[in-house]
Amino acid sequence: MASTGVLGGDGSHKIDYVFKVVLIGDSSVGKSQMLSRFARNEFSLDSKATIGVEFQTRTVVIDRKSVKAQIWDTAGQERYRAVTSAYYRGALGAILAYDITKRKSFDHIPRWLEELRAHADDNTVMILVGNKSDLEDQREVPTEDAKEFAQTEGLFFLETSALEATNVEEAFLTVLTEIFNVTNRRSLAGGKEQDQKPVSLAGKNIDVAGSGQAVPEKNRMCCGS
Ligand code: GTP
Ligand code: MG
Repeated sequence: MASTGVLGGDGSHKIDYVFKVVLIGDSSVGKSQMLSRFARNEFSLDSKATIGVEFQTRTVVIDRKSVKAQIWDTAGQERYRAVTSAYYRGALGAILAYDITKRKSFDHIPRWLEELRAHADDNTVMILVGNKSDLEDQREVPTEDAKEFAQTEGLFFLETSALEATNVEEAFLTVLTEIFNVTNRRSLAGGKEQDQKPVSLAGKNIDVAGSGQAVPEKNRMCCGS
């Protein structure tokens, strides 16, 4: 992977914003692989079910500002999930993922949405993502159904393939750009939320200049209890 532009983690590259985004959705829809595609441009077919919570970061440039995306990933399986309130706390964006080849995973989206709305801030930016678009021949969820649902609920919508790297970047960047816009609109309106940094990161790491490159930071934060 290209590593030009990588700078030291000692503050030599300024971060303007840190945005926390959470991934939610049924087990095995591909949340962890979407994250790994976005953060490291990697994909694995034999990915293991997530236990507890993990996060990875990637710094992108939006409107000439450095935005560190801190993406949280937890288990779709109830028994392995992170503590719900802690998971959502401070999230400015959410990706609700289902698998286009599993109707059930789409039918469960309203439940995920309900949980999200119960725990997240009113301004949280949400996108509905139908993953595994490479498996067209096994499709069980018509694009139109999802599009309609997203429209009704006021969510952004995209179909992605973590395997083929289709639209994954777009899905994350849609959320991050909208958070960026919302944050700036709020600062303009309120006049005092400039340089808002809603999430503080313990432990410094390496940052990258430019939106086309990524340096991963992988942290296992807790266990499923
Ligand atoms: P939990 O951690 O249990 O909640 O699951 P998850 O949503 O994180 O699913 P994960 O990313 O582990 O992916 C589950 C399986 O689907 C793995 O075998 C992946 O390789 C596969 N997978 C993920 N994304 C895609 C995709 O876009 N296309 C195809 N064909 N397979 C995918
Ligand atoms: Mg996972």
